[in-house]
Amino acid sequence: MSELKIPKHIAIIMDGNGRWADKRFLPKKAGHRKGADVLENILRCSNKFGVKYLSAYAFSTENWNRPQDEVNDLMDLLDNYLDRYIEKCDENGLKIKCIGDISKLSDALQKKILKLEALTEKKNGLNFIIALNYGARDEIFRAVKKILNMVLDKKILPNEITKSIFESCLDTKNIPDPDLLIRTGGEMRISNFLLWQCAYTEFYFCDKFWPDFNENDLEDAIKNFSMRQRRFGSR
Ligand code: FPP
Repeated sequence: MSELKIPKHIAIIMDGNGRWADKRFLPKKAGHRKGADVLENILRCSNKFGVKYLSAYAFSTENWNRPQDEVNDLMDLLDNYLDRYIEKCDENGLKIKCIGDISKLSDALQKKILKLEALTEKKNGLNFIIALNYGARDEIFRAVKKILNMVLDKKILPNEITKSIFESCLDTKNIPDPDLLIRTGGEMRISNFLLWQCAYTEFYFCDKFWPDFNENDLEDAIKNFSMRQRRFGSR
């Protein structure tokens, strides 16, 4: 791996949990559970490869439209996941941040998220960004409202608004844009994930279902990224 260009920030759309479970005549919940384990492994591998930021699309603003049972299962899974990460936070060195509008999650989940963020704030391992009730359009909309309130409160004049002030109102404040976005599950779309931040991101689509994604697949994605010539709009 040493000769490869390692992306500083990888964003992942973990698609295919349901189809993975269907193929095995398992409930969808089993697919999400396996998906959560795979995410843990991919975090470890990313850290090993020298990736500094990993963003995972765990629950979108649109996912509320899934059957109530599935939403409940995902919330339970998240609850367990947070507990596990609170327990292990001294061991893995991860710095964890959630993006998205967490105010729509239960009070108990919100408390655990804030606790985990505070507990890992000073860690210097991999930055793990979990997108929860996240939608890029919602994020941009909330950022616009924040700026409008700053103007109304006379903290800033309209002609003083800059791109960097706008970016500081996004949930990803202080997080560099993703270099590589990986989507598993065979679909080739971005599904409202990090729309602003992915302006110059390299996309990598993989047919495997997320629960089957492993270290070799991550390495393949990084190798593929390594061969790309990034010009950011210049020649
Ligand atoms: C898409 O698969 C996946 C999701 C909507 C949820 C992703 C969540 C996890 C991998 C769980 C781990 C994360 C945390 C932090 C709890 P799908 O169900 O749309 O798959 P399908 O397209 O095959 O139906």
